Amino acid sequence: MDKIYPVITVLAVLILVYILWCLIEPFFLVLDRAEIKRSSSDKVPEVKIKKIPLNTGSTAGKPDLRFFFFSDIHAEWCPVTSKRLCKAIRNAHNQSPLDAVIFGGDTVTNAHNENFGYRYLSAVSACCKELGIPFYGVSGNHDSKLINCSERSGFTSLDNRSVTMASHVSGTDIVITGLPDSGRKNRVWQTKMQCENNAPVILVVHDPDAIIHLDPDSRPDYMLSGHLHGGQMKFPFRIEFTLLKKSDKLPQMGVVQGIYDISGTTVFISRGIGCGVFPFRFLSVPEATVAEIYL
Ligand SMILES: [Fe+2]
Repeated sequence: MDKIYPVITVLAVLILVYILWCLIEPFFLVLDRAEIKRSSSDKVPEVKIKKIPLNTGSTAGKPDLRFFFFSDIHAEWCPVTSKRLCKAIRNAHNQSPLDAVIFGGDTVTNAHNENFGYRYLSAVSACCKELGIPFYGVSGNHDSKLINCSERSGFTSLDNRSVTMASHVSGTDIVITGLPDSGRKNRVWQTKMQCENNAPVILVVHDPDAIIHLDPDSRPDYMLSGHLHGGQMKFPFRIEFTLLKKSDKLPQMGVVQGIYDISGTTVFISRGIGCGVFPFRFLSVPEATVAEIYL
């Protein structure tokens, strides 16, 4: 019996440390740089996945476009304040001008808390206006019950809409388009994008699973997503996805965060900055990203 007490004590300490760290980690914010280059693979119907490093560490060669991308604020459960996010946007813009700030969806977890989200995004919108940077966004699965979210938050919605931008480096046009998220219940996946253009296309869509539902000839060249929170609380054997979130298909294939080549499309998936339910994160630090697009 005497041998059991030390074991119980060690287990209790480990659990306490785990819970404490889960409460601390959501306060961190990593601002990383993602080099998003065009895939050299064919757009094949089957799902072929290749993991790509976030960046090569070099700063040689200017990107055609430079976006500040963040996702999944879940404002009522987001210890990273809008003030800190705006500071990160300012720092990134001062380093080298940003072409746009893009929000990947999930304003709040619960629609009753919508005002938390509108206040947060309005602060980001004011910062973008001050710096003269356009602010775009798409809806997430938690936003399906929000009405006029983009107008009340101060960003231009890309849900089934497109904008065309020219690269400052090569002068080449690029289309930025978005797809809305219908929400988890009675989910509707779109098979086509709402843009007709021969220019390279960047698709902003909350749930990265959207790529496997698009017709192969309708798939974009680049894609920016969120939704998965990097697993939010990581467990051994990816239990957070294999047992708890079975409906997400790409995580079952090992796709959770970072850059991937998925059947000919270069896909970036952000860990997001907020927390879905309760301010808990474990080994999935909140992330905002300077997404550098190379055409
Ligand atoms: Fe989310």
